[in-house]
Amino acid sequence: MNRDDEKRRAGRAALAYVEDGMIVGVGTGSTVAHFIDALATRKARIEGAVSSSEQSTRQLEAHGIAVLDLNAVGDIPLYVDGADECDPQRRLIKGGGAALTREKIIAEAAARFVCIIDAGKRVEVLGRFPLPVEVIPMARSLVARALVKLGGQPVWRDGVVTDNGNWVLDVHGLRISDPLGLERAINQIPGVVTVGLFARRRADVVLIGDQVMGGDP
Ligand code: A5P
Repeated sequence: MNRDDEKRRAGRAALAYVEDGMIVGVGTGSTVAHFIDALATRKARIEGAVSSSEQSTRQLEAHGIAVLDLNAVGDIPLYVDGADECDPQRRLIKGGGAALTREKIIAEAAARFVCIIDAGKRVEVLGRFPLPVEVIPMARSLVARALVKLGGQPVWRDGVVTDNGNWVLDVHGLRISDPLGLERAINQIPGVVTVGLFARRRADVVLIGDQVMGGDP
């Protein structure tokens, strides 16, 4: 099976976690795009979606799915999102699509985080995929120097501005043996908005194609 087929299967399989009347948190990326298409077949049975990006909002609205403000809805039962890497403990690297901050906010608000990936995203140790860090623009260089001290090689994702008006550094050369510790350390650098490590709030369930890793439907 090719990667896009696996992404499509994972997107469809995530529908099993959607219940009638739910407000569904929706991530960003090509795998989530398949989930949104699948969710559209249930649109009359859900209350709406909370979206992690302008890109996903456009797709949801094109399907006629109501996009709700997280401030107005409080905690939500379910968040479905992709990832760039996933380790055996369901800890993730995210942010390849630069949507990491809103993704982390919605994951935090969600009772259950279902992550949908293709098998190519599985790793034993996180870090092969460059770790995205969203930064306040004026702090770019300061944060980059701090990331070098932590052992990484940050590269500015030149030309990319996040939905929040910030910039992204992609940190190469990391072998992340302590994802929780590194998440905490990077979060403490002034000027960092979000690091794309999802260890403190990891996925509850990972769907690799339609294979389940962790949790019960
Ligand atoms: C968006 O910022 C990312 O966190 C995505 O979830 C991630 O890049 C997965 O993207 P694909 O589903 O397109 O591979």
